[in-house]
Amino acid sequence: MGVTAKIAPSMLSSDFSNLASEAARMLDYGADWLHMDIMDGHFVPNLTIGAPVIESLRKHTKAYLDCHLMVTNPLDYVEPMGKAGASGFTFHVEASKDNWQELVQKIKSKGMSPGVALKPGTPIEEVFPLVEADNPVDMVLVMTVEPGFGGQKFMPDTMDKVRTLRQKYPSLDIEVDGGLGPSTIAMAASAGANCIVAGSSVFGAPEPAHVISLLKNSVEEAQKNS
Ligand code: DX5
Ligand code: ZN
Repeated sequence: MGVTAKIAPSMLSSDFSNLASEAARMLDYGADWLHMDIMDGHFVPNLTIGAPVIESLRKHTKAYLDCHLMVTNPLDYVEPMGKAGASGFTFHVEASKDNWQELVQKIKSKGMSPGVALKPGTPIEEVFPLVEADNPVDMVLVMTVEPGFGGQKFMPDTMDKVRTLRQKYPSLDIEVDGGLGPSTIAMAASAGANCIVAGSSVFGAPEPAHVISLLKNSVEEAQKNS
């Protein structure tokens, strides 16, 4: 049994003033997860949303809220995000060097699924201990752009990290985030990524449902041929 394809539109590209209807629209179009980008204006030079917005959205949807925390102190967010109804809690390895074990344990104790993300410049070896721990993360998010903003260009060099991970961990959920769309999905899918975040390529498309199904088919085909 291989890993399953999950397509996660990044709500950073949505109309934040209509978040509930934007979320419902994406789920209607076939989205598996909703990707929520939490930025603190410190770990990255941009400020977005936090637990209060997740809590508001949770009242309108039962969807899996795949939360990506681009924050300097992820530990401070575990309790509020758990209470707000986050499903996945993905923290950055660069921000958790000293406390990832405590973080993973707390995330699980709040009923969320832990993931670890790494920036393009961070070596893949840094996440191995988190995947191999007695209490491991469930997912690795390989950033395919510098975190902070939607609409950037996909960095193909990051695919070596995805290949390394997939070879080492055949059943791990591997997520890619940044610059994914119809023209880049083949690279990510053949490297072994199965969770695909896509913001501008989905929200900017005349028919987002087509883009979502194209992304999903690409991952499923690549999985079959692997
Ligand atoms: C960037 C965020 C992404 C972003 C992706 O820091 O983590 O989730 O929204 O947007 P696109 O798909 O437009 O690159
Ligand atoms: Zn993200």
